[in-house]
Amino acid sequence: MTTTRIRKAVFPVAGLGTRFLPATKASPKEMLPVVDKPLIQYAVEEAYEAGIRDMVFVTGRSKRAIEDHFDTAYELENELEQAGKSEMLALVRSIAPADMNCLFVRQPRSLGLGHAVLCAEPLVGQEPFAVLLADDLMVGTTENGIGGPGVMAQMTAAFEKQGRSLLAVQEVPQEHTKRYGIVKGEAAGGPLIRVDQIVEKPAPEVAPSRMGVAGRYVLTPRIFEEIRNQPRGVGGEIQLTDAIARLMQHEAVYAYQYSGKRYDCGSKEGFLEATVELALQHPQVGAQFRAYLQGLAV
Ligand code: UTP
Repeated sequence: MTTTRIRKAVFPVAGLGTRFLPATKASPKEMLPVVDKPLIQYAVEEAYEAGIRDMVFVTGRSKRAIEDHFDTAYELENELEQAGKSEMLALVRSIAPADMNCLFVRQPRSLGLGHAVLCAEPLVGQEPFAVLLADDLMVGTTENGIGGPGVMAQMTAAFEKQGRSLLAVQEVPQEHTKRYGIVKGEAAGGPLIRVDQIVEKPAPEVAPSRMGVAGRYVLTPRIFEEIRNQPRGVGGEIQLTDAIARLMQHEAVYAYQYSGKRYDCGSKEGFLEATVELALQHPQVGAQFRAYLQGLAV
């Protein structure tokens, strides 16, 4: 491998979002706003903070809004300029900084996360890359709450040191193992675990551990070959987890226990938790919202 610098991030956004129907019937799940920003923007900002500038979106039907969100909005910008609303104008322009490139590729059918990642291969090429699932909203944390380095920044820094594929992991409740890819392995220093087993969504009785994979990965380009040669799994889907299990036969793969908090915004409960917790931290509405919640609790 020639480089350990991660320059490209893949955002698979072609899923159907069935758990969030009817909201996702005609609008992308990734455009659901948490307080005032769509989920996909949180993920793009996290990648940008990690020094990544090429953002590759794997889109599908009904996902036009995502392309529009990261494109120039001439009419809106003009109106804001005419009205002298310079703060709003700066806010709108900041969504896509000048040094950021957005690239789009379509996944013609929802054949699974592994297949979505493979669709990005022509735009990623033979270099290591990040994958961010925007429906997992991840925030860095400090002792005082939200803040600190983002999860992808932590992972790209770790990758620069050891150059091996990384999967973000967190401990999950035993009864929830069937919602995650679950890994087992040997402690490898600091937040790293050398993975020797990965299983997709095991039942609690057979789960090899409680270490669940969250929606952040740094992968070496060999993963493309493994996905390409992989038969379809359960439900006809091409699973990224299966391809990672095959990758492990050729290269070491590490789990990375990140510092931060994850909200599963693909589920209604996680989305509501993210909305409440991020609203409480929001510089404009946080204090007022806290007072409102306290009033409700009385
Ligand atoms: P999910 O398992 O959350 O599936 O996919 P989903 O279709 O988005 O949502 P539900 O389960 O029906 O409610 C995890 C991630 O992989 C992407 C999704 O967009 C999401 O970010 N994905 C999944 C694809 O891009 N293509 C696929 O074929 C499947």
